Amino acid sequence: MVLHNNSVSLFGRDATLAAIEERLRVGGLLLVGPRRIGKTALLKYLCDQPPRGSVAVRVDLEGLDDVASAVERIAEAFWRAEVAPKKLFAERMEELRRVKVGGVFEVERGGVDRAESAWDALEALFDDAVKRLEKKHTQLIVMLDELPWWLDALAAPRRDDGDDAGTREEAGRARARQALAQLRYLRQRDGLAHRLRMVLTGSVGLSGLAFAIGASAELNDLEPFELRPLEEEDGAALFEAEVSARGMKCEDATSRKAHRLAGGSPHWIKQLAAKAKRQPALGPEDVDASAELLLSPRLRHLFQDEAHHHLERRHGEHAALMRSLLSAASASDVGATRSALLSVGLGAGSGRTRADVERALVQLVDEFYLDPDEDRFRFTNPLFRRWWERYGSW
Ligand SMILES: Nc1ncnc2c1ncn2[C@@H]1O[C@H](COP(=O)(O)OP(=O)(O)O)[C@@H](O)[C@H]1O
Ligand SMILES: [Mg+2]
Repeated sequence: MVLHNNSVSLFGRDATLAAIEERLRVGGLLLVGPRRIGKTALLKYLCDQPPRGSVAVRVDLEGLDDVASAVERIAEAFWRAEVAPKKLFAERMEELRRVKVGGVFEVERGGVDRAESAWDALEALFDDAVKRLEKKHTQLIVMLDELPWWLDALAAPRRDDGDDAGTREEAGRARARQALAQLRYLRQRDGLAHRLRMVLTGSVGLSGLAFAIGASAELNDLEPFELRPLEEEDGAALFEAEVSARGMKCEDATSRKAHRLAGGSPHWIKQLAAKAKRQPALGPEDVDASAELLLSPRLRHLFQDEAHHHLERRHGEHAALMRSLLSAASASDVGATRSALLSVGLGAGSGRTRADVERALVQLVDEFYLDPDEDRFRFTNPLFRRWWERYGSW
């Protein structure tokens, strides 16, 4: 079924939305899923069509690297959603500006560092927003999109964390842990808890990330929810809708083929439709041609973000191992067996242990590159698999 209003239309997400609304009645959630599977689209839909009695606000944390900027962005989102008045917004901004010095972690006069001031400002902002909820609204839903980006940036070692590499790493982890702890404090705080719901999202398994920084407990009040690819029927319907918006027709076999090539990812289904050569009716071979176009050298940057940037940014020195595992899994749509991948990972002279390779495999699954299936691992998306086969080792 298609759910839509003026600005957002969603295919195949009615059961998901119902489950999410159900959960929001009692608590918050962790919404995870591969890049471009539709997390943001779902959050936008919830902003436009919040559960009865709620106001929902989405804040995108991508690209932010400290606490004050995140609070600033949250304040701005509250103001836009009209849950905080402009005057209050201006005051909070002024407060933040006073403690914000050149984008670095500064210690203010009186020994209060700006992170603490920013957390205080956030607490005040949440307090005000919840208090201001109009009578008809009982709940404020705050959805923090792409949280792992921000946590990664907080965890990155900084020069003023000390000289020793180990100390710097721990200082970074402590910053990220503190952020999760503060968010948890806000959602559990007396007076806020029953009127505030948080949805945290990201394209990497948030639980794995929290575990890595020693903050699992800070998320255990949130219910994990994985956004899955579209069902074939819905993916095919999306492809048909996109194709017909371009004035073309196609048969069921064609749209199902597009769905399968895209691995049910709405984004890639749309791309396949957008790249199809204009003609009255599309056949399955036109979907192949469209995929070829998407994978052509001129468009090879399309998956770049899923591929190298992401791995390098998150995994640094382990990225090479992860890339070699992905290359091995990319040879076929059925993927590769665990033992084949282990022997690739343990390749002569690599100095890696079995545990290193096992850990890398867990991470590749956790971050939605690979799906485990019996004793095999295969790419979550056949288009991306083909892309990797061609360009993955560049
Ligand atoms: N259920 C859906 N039906 C139709 N289009 C969708 C659906 N989910 C996502 N999209 C579209 O797919 C693209 C990627 O979705 P997005 O929400 O940005 O993914 P994510 O946030 O998971 O990376 C966007 O163009 C979005 O509009
Ligand atoms: Mg998104």
